[in-house]
Amino acid sequence: MIYLDNSATTLIKPKQVVSAVNDSLLHYSANPGRSGHQASIKCALEIEKTREHIAKHFGLPLPQNVIFTSNCTSALNMAIFGYLNKGDHVITTENEHNSVLRPLEKLKKEGILEYDVAFQSSPIGIKLEDIKPLVKKNTTMIICNHISNVNGATAAIQEIGKFCKEKQILFLLDCAQSCGHEKINMQSDHINLLAFAGHKGFYAPLAIGGLLINTEKPPKPLLYGGTGTNSLELFQPSSLPERLESGTISSPLILGLNAGINFVEEHFDEIKYKLDDLSTYLNFELNKLEFSVYTQPENANGVIAFNIKDIDSSEVATLLNEKYGICVRGGFHCAPLKHKALGTLNQGAVRVSLSYFNTFSDVQKLIFALKNIKHRIFKMKD
Ligand code: ALA
Repeated sequence: MIYLDNSATTLIKPKQVVSAVNDSLLHYSANPGRSGHQASIKCALEIEKTREHIAKHFGLPLPQNVIFTSNCTSALNMAIFGYLNKGDHVITTENEHNSVLRPLEKLKKEGILEYDVAFQSSPIGIKLEDIKPLVKKNTTMIICNHISNVNGATAAIQEIGKFCKEKQILFLLDCAQSCGHEKINMQSDHINLLAFAGHKGFYAPLAIGGLLINTEKPPKPLLYGGTGTNSLELFQPSSLPERLESGTISSPLILGLNAGINFVEEHFDEIKYKLDDLSTYLNFELNKLEFSVYTQPENANGVIAFNIKDIDSSEVATLLNEKYGICVRGGFHCAPLKHKALGTLNQGAVRVSLSYFNTFSDVQKLIFALKNIKHRIFKMKD
């Protein structure tokens, strides 16, 4: 099997991650932050080390403002429902995932807020000039996807962050597809809120993510319950992270995430080089085959989308899986506005997504398979 669906989740996890999860189950399985005994404290200390590590990785000054969530969707929901209020206006982009669009649409339908969508004037990705004309007096938040999960389009986050700071608009960045292979610094990039997934570019287990809060005011919680602190009080604590982390958190997943971030930091340049090299090669070959390629060669970040003539993308993905043992994602990728912008609302798109563990030979085999598929299709049509 050749696995090229790493934007859905990275399949191969580094040995360090597997050992960290195993080690956690063996040695750090007490409930962190609930009891004063040594087993609980030992576990809590490892969790706090991970918070510090994540904060450092993303240039966030306060480790307690790292909130663990079960995935990037929960983190985005936490920020959207936690900060937005009646009468607010939000700007988002054509690249957003349903984890942003559906909460916004719900709040719009309930008459709570209005939102506008910025479209790319450049094929590379969203720029500040695409967002600026949409700003209104009541714009309180700009929500921007860093790297599109459909085609790798990359937003100019520094200029958007700087603008948000000047205008005192909250900047929420969705890093689901960029964390682990893009340098992001919440301080110098002026990012107020950052949502990330652990199981993609950080090579961590599934179902761990986080919201990082770089603004003074904490959001309203979505979940209320036990935090292990102020136990006799009936109201939710205001301090972070407790305010937003009701219920037991998962030590195995958090310690696995810590190991994944360590792995990424140790191999950062190699990861970037590998993704760049393989993406560039694949993009070039797909263009040579005269497919409709939706990814710009400049966005050589491991996400490449294409179609073969008017063939349904799911059919191509099924053929690749069944005849060649190659796993890619076809169809629609939970980003309806992006499909509309690319003109792929009918056939979806075949998406190849790479990881550090893919090889040149994996991509060569994919190209070979696609050449055969193209040949078969044209023969059928003759
Ligand atoms: N959002 C993930 C993807 O793009 C699951 O496949």
